[in-house]
Amino acid sequence: MEIVLTVGIISGISGILAFLLTIANNTINDYGDVKITINESKEYDARGGSSLLGLLIENEVYIPSACGGKGSCGFCKVKVTEGGGPLLPTETGYVTEEEAKDNIRLSCQVKVKNDIDIEIDEAIFNVKQYEYSVVKNESITPSIKHLILRLPEGKEIDFKAGQYIQLLAPKYKGNREEVYRAYSLASSPNQKNEIELLIGFVPEGICTTYVHYHLDEKDKVTVVGPYGDFYYQDNDKEMIMVAIGTGMAPILSILRYMRENRITDRKVIFFFGAKDEEELFFDEEFQELEKELPKFRYIPSISRPKPDGKWNGEVGRVTDTITKYIENGENKEAYLCGSPRMIDSVVDLLKEKGLEEESILYDKFS
Ligand SMILES: Cc1cc2nc3c(=O)[nH]c(=O)nc-3n(C[C@H](O)[C@H](O)[C@H](O)COP(=O)(O)OP(=O)(O)OC[C@H]3O[C@@H](n4cnc5c(N)ncnc54)[C@H](O)[C@@H]3O)c2cc1C
Ligand code: FES
Repeated sequence: MEIVLTVGIISGISGILAFLLTIANNTINDYGDVKITINESKEYDARGGSSLLGLLIENEVYIPSACGGKGSCGFCKVKVTEGGGPLLPTETGYVTEEEAKDNIRLSCQVKVKNDIDIEIDEAIFNVKQYEYSVVKNESITPSIKHLILRLPEGKEIDFKAGQYIQLLAPKYKGNREEVYRAYSLASSPNQKNEIELLIGFVPEGICTTYVHYHLDEKDKVTVVGPYGDFYYQDNDKEMIMVAIGTGMAPILSILRYMRENRITDRKVIFFFGAKDEEELFFDEEFQELEKELPKFRYIPSISRPKPDGKWNGEVGRVTDTITKYIENGENKEAYLCGSPRMIDSVVDLLKEKGLEEESILYDKFS
C-alpha cells in the first residue's frame, strides 16, 4: 500500500512539473507571429520561437539538413540579411570568417524571435517532399544496396543528372531519432517516376542500418529533394570522371543521361576504384555504355586483386591510374565523387596536370 502511495505521489509531482515546464516553455518561447521574407519577394507567416530551419520546413521550404538540426552537418546555411541576431558559438565550426562577414548562418541554430529576411538559392523552391514505395532493395556487393523507389502513378520528380536527395530514416528498434541523409541519384533524370540509389553500409550508421536491415520491398519512404550543384555541365570539354564505391551513383546518372540524350560526341573517361573484384559492380552496363557512347572509356582499377591471377585490369589506387592515362588538363573537366580523402588527393593530382580549379566538380560523401 505504502509503495503504491509513494509511486502515486511521485507520478503526481512529475506530472505537475511537466505541466509547469510546458507552460513555462510556451510562455518564454512565445515570440508571437513573425514574418519570414525570402529573397525580398516571398513572405511566410510563422510563429516565433522555433529554429529558422524548422519554420522554413513547416512552410515547405526544404533547406538541406543532414543532422536533424543538431548543428553538426553544416548543410543548412542561408544568408540572413535582417533579424538573425549575432553568430552563435554553435555555428562557428561550420561558418567560416568570410561567410560570417557575408551574414551566412546555420538556419538550424538561428532562433526566430522577430521578423527575419533571408536569401536562399532559388533552386530550393524546386525541392519537394515525396513519398516513395520501395520496388527493390538488393545487395550488389557485400556492402552496397541498390535501391529502386517508385512514386505513385502520375507523380514525378525533376532533377539534374548528378544531384542528390535526402532520405528520411525513421525511428526503428535501436534508433530513437528521425534523421535525413544525403544520397546521390543513380538514375537518369529522364526517368521521373522512379529513382535509383546506391547505399553503402556504415557500421552503426543510422540511415544505412535502416536501409540495409529494416527496409523491405513495398515499404514507404520519405524523400526530400533534389539538391546540389554537382551536375552535368553542357559544354564540349573532355570529361574525366572518378569514383570509388557508391560514388559511382551520380556518375552513372550522368552517363545514362548522356546515352539517352545521344550526347555521343564528348570524350569521357571514367576511373572507378575498388579494393577487390567483389567491389566492382554494374560492369555489364559500363561495357554497354562503351558501345553506345563511342568516345566513352571505363577504367576500373583494383588496389588488392585476388591472388588467383584472374584480374587483368589496372592495379593500384585510382590516382595511379589517372596518372597513367591523363597527360594534361587541356580542355578537360572533372567529375569526382566519393570519400573526402580520395577527392582531396584527386583534386591535387588534377591541378598538377593543369586542370583549372573551376573545372573540377565534386561531391564529397562526408
Ligand atoms: C552530397 C552527398 C551525397 C551522398 N551520396 C551518397 C550515396 O550516394 N551513397 C552513400 O552510400 N552515401 C552517400 N552519402 C553519405 C550519406 O549521406 C551518409 O553520410 C552515410 O550513408 C552514413 O549515414 P548513416 O546515417 O548510416 O551514418 P551516421 O549515423 O551518420 O554515422 C554513424 C557513424 O559513422 C561515421 N560515418 C559516417 N559516414 C561514414 C563513412 N562513409 N565511412 C566511415 N564512417 C562514417 C560517422 O562519423 C558516425 O560516427 C552522401 C553524402 C553527401 C554529403
Ligand atoms: S541541419 Fe545540420 S548543421 Fe544545421
